[in-house]
This record gives sequence, C-alpha cells and structure tokens, in this order.
Amino acid sequence: MGQHSQDSPLRLALLGYGKMGRVIAGLAPQRGFEVKLALDIDENRSGGGITAERFRGIDVAVDFTQPDAVVENVERCAAAGCNLVVGTTGWYDRLEAVRKVVAGAGIGLVYAANFSIGVQLFYRLSRAAAEIFAHFPMYQPYIHEAHHRMKMDAPSGTAIELKRRVEPALKGREIPVSSVRAGYIPGTHELGFDSEADTVIVRHTARSRQGFAEGALYAARWVVGRKGLFTFADVLQESASATEAQSHRA
Ligand SMILES: NC(=O)c1ccc[n+]([C@@H]2O[C@H](COP(=O)([O-])OP(=O)(O)OC[C@H]3O[C@@H](n4cnc5c(N)ncnc54)[C@H](OP(=O)(O)O)[C@@H]3O)[C@@H](O)[C@H]2O)c1
Repeated sequence: MGQHSQDSPLRLALLGYGKMGRVIAGLAPQRGFEVKLALDIDENRSGGGITAERFRGIDVAVDFTQPDAVVENVERCAAAGCNLVVGTTGWYDRLEAVRKVVAGAGIGLVYAANFSIGVQLFYRLSRAAAEIFAHFPMYQPYIHEAHHRMKMDAPSGTAIELKRRVEPALKGREIPVSSVRAGYIPGTHELGFDSEADTVIVRHTARSRQGFAEGALYAARWVVGRKGLFTFADVLQESASATEAQSHRA
C-alpha cells in the first residue's frame, strides 16, 4: 500500500467499470479520492490486471464486478498488499476462503451486500418489526425484492441478509422470498406481514446507485491502514461509537 498524507487524496483502484464502477468514479473526486486505475473485464480476466507493480502507491481498491471474479480479485489484492472493499454480491459461499486469504496476507477488507446506509437502518427496523410480529401468529412474514433485469444473482444478497437478520425473532416461521428482475429498478426490498385482514410492509427503495457509491467510498476511507475482515455494519457501528464518545467528551 502507498504512503498517504492527511491532505492528499486517497489513491483508488476500481475493479469493475460497469454501472457501479462508473458511479463511484464520478463521486470519488468529491469525496477525496483520486481514481488511479479502473480495471474492467478486458484488463482483468481472472484477476490478471492486479499486479504488485500496477498497485504500487494504491491506497485501496473497490470491487464491483461479478460473483465468480471476487475470490481471484481478493487473492491478487492480498498478494499486492492492497486493502479493499467488496460490493459485489453472490459469492458468500466462498466467505471462509476469503477470510483465510485476508488473515494470511494481513490486509483489510470490508464487504456488504448493500452499502446504502438506509439499508443498514432498514435491517434494524425490520428486526424490531419481526420481534413485534412474532407475538401475532396470524401475520405471515415474507420478503420481496425487485431489481433491474441485468442483475445476475437472485435472491439479492440484501434479501438473504434481511432474512438472516429477522429469522431469529420469527423462530420456526416460514419466510418465503420472492424476486423480480425487470427494467431499470436500482433495488427495492420489503419485509411484509400478511394477515386475513391486512398487510404491514417495511420497505426500502433505492432511488439511484449514488447511495451505494457513498457507502462504498465511506468504507474505503475507513479500511485504509486496517487489518481484518469487516462488514459495513462493523464500519457504521464503530463510527457511531466514536461519535458517541466524542459527544460525551464535548
Ligand atoms: N453492495 C452494494 O451496495 C451493491 C450495489 C449495487 C450493485 N452491487 C453488486 O455489485 C456487482 C456489480 O454491479 P453493477 O451493477 O456495477 O454490474 P455491471 O454493470 O454488470 O458491472 C460489473 C462490471 O464488472 C466487469 N467485470 C466482470 N468480471 C471482472 C473482473 N474479473 N475484473 C474486472 N471487471 C470485471 C463486468 O464486465 P462484463 O460485463 O463485460 O463481464 C462489468 O463491466 C453485482 O454483483 C451487484 O449485485 C452491490
């Protein structure tokens, strides 16, 4: 990793230059980053574009590629000693392999199925709703998600994470999950509770990809100089604790 002074922009490498990669490239200069490299599939088949030489001076990499590219990209970044943020979804069956690579190389990695801060709050709200509805078995829980037709994985990583978060509160209850892929929808997730009389819905609707890019860049700044495997929830939790400690001191 490169030496970085407080005032100079962080040097960023983008892995994947599709819809998300482009939004991040557009936002990065306003958030104190300089995009030094943007590797799309042509320059990075099987992680081949990530070399120690090209990554010299890079402070952090951000991966928005496709599920089967993630492990190789992480291995290559680890070999180059570069910390990274992984926004790509659909690879979590390989999480243990990635954990070993991160620990072995002593790099830092933040991953999340959803880098929107609103979604992190939506998870917490959904968990609270599940705890309330758990006492009323006449309401059947369900999850529904919708995304643009180009999205490869279904159900979305966010829907899988949402289910994981609410399941413990709804012990033994079936939680069916449905997915729609159509048009240009940036991402909608809902947790519903349906009874004979009515439906209650907790919903998050992304308006654009900007929220994901903001969160990914926030995590990228946070992970510089750290070691270990973190989720975006860890990043936000630590930032919230730091703000709280500061307000106690003031
Ligand atoms: N965590 C979050 O908050 C969040 C938010 C939005 C999206 N996502 C996820 O992020 C991923 C990317 O989304 P997107 O909408 O940006 O998709 P996209 O528009 O398809 O962009 C992905 C780009 O990565 C390229 N690519 C594939 N393998 C690569 C490799 N080994 N090295 C470099 N580039 C490679 C693709 O090239 P080709 O198309 O030519 O193969 C494509 O240009 C998806 O998994 C999506 O579900 C996560």
